[in-house]
Amino acid sequence: MDSFVRVLVVMAFLIGATSAGNFNTDVTITWGQPRAQILNKGQLLSLSLDNTSGSGFESKYDFLYGRFDVQLKLIPGNSAGTVTTFYMSSQGAAHDEIDFEFLGNASGQPYTVHTNVYAQGVGNKEQQFRLWYDPTLAFHTYTILWNPLRIM
Ligand SMILES: *[C@@H]1O[C@H](CO)[C@@H](O)[C@H](O)[C@H]1NC(C)=O
Ligand SMILES: *[C@@H]1O[C@H](CO)[C@@H](O)[C@H](O)[C@H]1NC(C)=O
Repeated sequence: MDSFVRVLVVMAFLIGATSAGNFNTDVTITWGQPRAQILNKGQLLSLSLDNTSGSGFESKYDFLYGRFDVQLKLIPGNSAGTVTTFYMSSQGAAHDEIDFEFLGNASGQPYTVHTNVYAQGVGNKEQQFRLWYDPTLAFHTYTILWNPLRIM
């Protein structure tokens, strides 16, 4: 992983910002308007989906190393077929990428958290986790820590 990556979030339900950040100045809504909305003077970003498509946003800035926190509250109820992702990616064919994917499930069934890392376009490092809490009831913080030695 040696290229700059951009933080992208696709089709998450509600994303909270820390008081230091502001969604109005820090991100671009890349697709799905008006399903994506910036609320509370830039402190909350809500993404939703309808029967045909979702929505997403992307950071305006590139990063090389850092800690990236997202406060995320997922789609409740029957979320089968939805994928809410928070990922960082560089551009181009041999891209680098770090992924969090939340795979929805039928009502009452647990979400699966799916992670992956791409280096020079090569992934195949998928891991799957079952959460021990309901991610739809409250905001939880999910973090990617990326430094020259490791990705956590
Ligand atoms: C979306 O799909 C549901 C279930 O099939 C249907 O009840 C609803 O009317 C659809 N909504 C729109 C806007 O097409
Ligand atoms: C949905 O829940 C069922 C029952 O717990 C589980 O077997 C299945 O793997 C889950 N699907 C996903 C996509 O997480």
